[in-house]
Amino acid sequence: MTVHAIIGGTGLTELPGLTLHEAVPMQTPYGPPSADVLRGAYAGREVLFLARHGHPHRIPPHQVNYRANLWALKEAGAQAIIAVNAVGGIHSAMGAGHLCVPHQLIDYTYGRDHTFFEGDIEHVTHVDFSFPYDESLRQRLIAGLAAEGYLFSSHGVYGCTQGPRLETVAEIARMGRDGCDIVGMTGMPEALLARELDLPYACLALVVNPAAGKTTDIITMAQIEAALSEGIVKTRAVLARALTG
Ligand code: HPA
Repeated sequence: MTVHAIIGGTGLTELPGLTLHEAVPMQTPYGPPSADVLRGAYAGREVLFLARHGHPHRIPPHQVNYRANLWALKEAGAQAIIAVNAVGGIHSAMGAGHLCVPHQLIDYTYGRDHTFFEGDIEHVTHVDFSFPYDESLRQRLIAGLAAEGYLFSSHGVYGCTQGPRLETVAEIARMGRDGCDIVGMTGMPEALLARELDLPYACLALVVNPAAGKTTDIITMAQIEAALSEGIVKTRAVLARALTG
């Protein structure tokens, strides 16, 4: 059976319900990952879990060592990756609490260590990234969302910004014109690095705020945290369904 790894984002620095077998401090050629890789059972299935921002949450999106995280998970035996990401909503359907399984992404980040192919390598590999998310893993998440009866979108374009600041109204308007439905800071280079390691990868995105200009209010951390604590319970239920589906 496929060993899935879950990368928990903001609000999911640990996975309640995980029967912990082992916390593995890993080293990689890129340095240590954000936290120990947890090996355990969730919903009766063997899983690996990694807190993207560390546990407790301390590493901002632009400073996450994405290469170490992906390398460590592969080394620990991950065969597929489900990423959980908190996002802002751009499309009008993406209100706080909405869940989305994106099918495409646009990368607006810069200056991140974004590839394993660098330095003195014999063959630069131009990996195909036309479809950044694995379709069968996406379908597992979609089936899990449907089974739980949550409001969700089975498609969406994830725009990944550099952060850690939130976007301006004009930036979000531009991203909307580009076709982005949701905006986050952690989807890339994570998705690409998974592809470079040949790991199927899908994202479960939880909308925690309307993006800049999509509401007359300013975006507060209190608002984001309230949406997170409600929404994260849903993501845990969906993860259990996706693993067992
Ligand atoms: N923008 C970028 N990243 C985010 C947001 C946002 O509005 N909300 C949560 N992560």
